[in-house]
Parts: sequence; C-alpha cells; structure tokens
Amino acid sequence: MIFRNQGSSIKKTNSILKDELIKNYGLNSYEFTQKHTGEIFVCSKDKELDLIELDQLLQTVGWSTRPIRRVKRALAFSILVVGLWLYDEKFPRLVGFARCTGDGILEATVWDVAVNPIYQGNGLGKELMKYILKELKNIGIFKVTLFADAEVVSFYKRQGWILEPRGSKCAFWYAN
Ligand SMILES: CC(C)(COP(=O)(O)OP(=O)(O)OC[C@H]1O[C@@H](n2cnc3c(N)ncnc32)[C@H](O)[C@@H]1OP(=O)(O)O)[C@@H](O)C(=O)NCCC(=O)NCCS
Repeated sequence: MIFRNQGSSIKKTNSILKDELIKNYGLNSYEFTQKHTGEIFVCSKDKELDLIELDQLLQTVGWSTRPIRRVKRALAFSILVVGLWLYDEKFPRLVGFARCTGDGILEATVWDVAVNPIYQGNGLGKELMKYILKELKNIGIFKVTLFADAEVVSFYKRQGWILEPRGSKCAFWYAN
C-alpha cells in the first residue's frame, strides 16, 4: 500500500503554532488546509475523543448509536484510534473518525471510517486514510484489511486498495 499526497483540494500547512499543535493534538498530528475555504483540519491519534461527540458524528453518516461504555472499551482495545478535527483554538469540532484493530505487529483492520456529510467530498476522507496508513506503517504494520459496503468500495479503490479476488477469500460469521 502506498502513502502519497493526492489531495488537490488540500494543501499542507503550518498555520497552527507547532507548540500548540503538539500540546493539543500530539506529536504525530497532521495538519492540512482546505484550499477553497481556508479551513484547517487536524488528524490526531493522541487527542482524547469525547465519546458523545463521536456518537453524534457516527450518527450523521447514518450509523446506529452504540452503548458508550462498549465503545469506550472497543477504543481501548483498538491499536489505532484517529480523530479528524476542524481546527478551532477553543472549540475544535470532530468531523471525521477511523480506528484499527489488530495484533499490533503484523496485521490491522480498519473500521468505522466516517466523515461528517457536511465536510464530505473535499478530500478529508482521503487525508484521514493516508494518516491511518502512515501511522500503521510507523508501527511496522504493512498488511491492512477493511470491509466496505459496496457503494463505498470505489472510495478505497481510488486510493490503491485491492479488492479480494473473486469473493473467494473472505468468510463471515455472525452470532445473531
Ligand atoms: C466514505 C467517506 C469516509 C469518504 O469521505 P470523503 O471526505 O467524502 O472522501 P474524499 O472527499 O476524500 O473522497 C476521495 C475520493 O473518493 C471518492 N469518494 C468519496 N466518497 C465516496 C463514496 N461514498 N463512494 C465512492 N467514491 C467516493 C471521491 O469522489 C474522491 O474521488 P477523487 O479522488 O477522484 O477526487 C464518507 O463518504 C463517509 O463518511 N461515508 C459514510 C460512512 C461510510 O460509508 N464509511 C465507510 C465505511 S466502509
């Protein structure tokens, strides 16, 4: 999987003071600006998430609400949890999210990729995925999988993801 900057509507910036960025979003945060609005966004794996805000974000993309306590545990057991914030010095807004589970060494699976519909179609999802893959690479994980609904598959294909061949390699089991 290749990590490269493809976002034409996105430019890398250093608008936020480095100290502030590190203090609020962590050392490995990634800041970028949407060219036509000038809005600044930050991807961070370190900034703490407000679980109510996360639930609200996931509801904006049509996903059912999940018990906060279970989500908290699921995040604690995830190997990578990433928030994408619309930058504001006082009131940053969570506009995107994704997380990964896995063994932390060899393999990871990406889950819950979401961008608030208000901000979709502007390259944010792509930046979020690039950040995820970069962070997994930093951990040393090079084999990454995900499950996507049919209508979103091309979002991933455009970024270099390969479909499992002939639908023959994958199996699911649901307890109910
Ligand atoms: C899928 C999702 C994260 C994409 O976020 P986004 O910010 O709108 O994506 P981007 O603007 O970065 O789009 C990147 C590229 O993918 C394409 N794309 C975006 N959403 C797409 C979709 N749903 N289906 C197919 N292609 C899509 C864009 O046209 C763009 O193409 P380009 O590179 O040729 O310009 C967002 O639509 C979303 O949250 N959807 C609802 C939740 C969901 O289905 N998540 C995926 C779970 S598997």
